[in-house]
Amino acid sequence: MKKILLTGANGMFATDFIKYCSSDFEIIWFDRMWLDITNFETSKKIISEIMPDIILNAAAYTAVDDAEDIGKLKNFEINTLWVYHLGKISKELNIDFITISTDYVFDGQKKEWYAENDIQNPINEYGMSKYLWEKLAWEENKNTIIIRTSWLYGWWKKFKNFVNTMLKLSKTRNELKVVNDQFWIPTFTKDLAFAIWEIIENIWDFRGKILHFSNSSENAITWFDFTRKIFEISEKNIHVIPCSSSDFQTKAKRPQFSLLKNNSNIQLRNWEDWLKNYLNTLQQENE
Ligand SMILES: NC(=O)c1ccc[n+]([C@@H]2O[C@H](COP(=O)([O-])OP(=O)(O)OC[C@H]3O[C@@H](n4cnc5c(N)ncnc54)[C@H](OP(=O)(O)O)[C@@H]3O)[C@@H](O)[C@H]2O)c1
Repeated sequence: MKKILLTGANGMFATDFIKYCSSDFEIIWFDRMWLDITNFETSKKIISEIMPDIILNAAAYTAVDDAEDIGKLKNFEINTLWVYHLGKISKELNIDFITISTDYVFDGQKKEWYAENDIQNPINEYGMSKYLWEKLAWEENKNTIIIRTSWLYGWWKKFKNFVNTMLKLSKTRNELKVVNDQFWIPTFTKDLAFAIWEIIENIWDFRGKILHFSNSSENAITWFDFTRKIFEISEKNIHVIPCSSSDFQTKAKRPQFSLLKNNSNIQLRNWEDWLKNYLNTLQQENE
């Protein structure tokens, strides 16, 4: 059984990874309290005592808007500098290293699918911190596996994700304005966990690669499309009104088109199927 050291274990993706992959791997997980990745010496000591086969880094600074101002330093410290150090430790100890990046490394101007080797050009601080790290990661450890994903939602109840927020709003509103000019594909963390399971099982095929994982879809989706689908599946009669991003100003700019083309042999399932799966499970949990 492969031994995986997982960081950022309280996060949304990590929670589903533990939930769905624990029977197949020995997962030794750490939340920030037990392994703060910004503490280099402690991280190195813990990792060398455990000597896992793989470090899976799910720790990240994910407050995209705060990264523009109050969280600027922390964003670079965690997403660039310390993820780079984890890569360094993994190289020194000869451990495989998988870590998660984002569609926000692209500027969204391409207006079609981004391939794994397309030129990055981030337009916000969070995207920049991940982009810089991607560059440093390979300088330090050529075997690093970089997984870019987009718009995660997952692990019901505990996390504030877009789906849960819309469901909550539907209790008090009968109409909602939702942005209809940003195009992307959502990703259910359960399906991302399965994809990473496959990578771990076949790690030798993926060393030194960038992989693009979002749920599959023939067309791009907007928040408006996604919201309508949430209410359609959960049979809620809410009037969803399309609007422009300029109606909802945010501190961080978002790429207008961030569609990740997946050229690997691991394909994720259709976004609508997974949304149904998520909403059904949510309903069962509430019954
Ligand atoms: N969410 C998205 O839509 C999205 C889209 C594209 C890519 N991604 C990437 O996917 C990965 C997983 O995202 P997610 O949504 O699951 O993130 P998340 O829920 O925000 O989880 C990140 C975890 O990292 C932990 N963390 C932060 N600083 C740390 C430190 N110094 N040491 C150790 N742990 C630390 C946080 O701990 P606390 O709980 O203590 O704060 C949190 O539990 C991240 O790399 C993210 O950038 C996410």
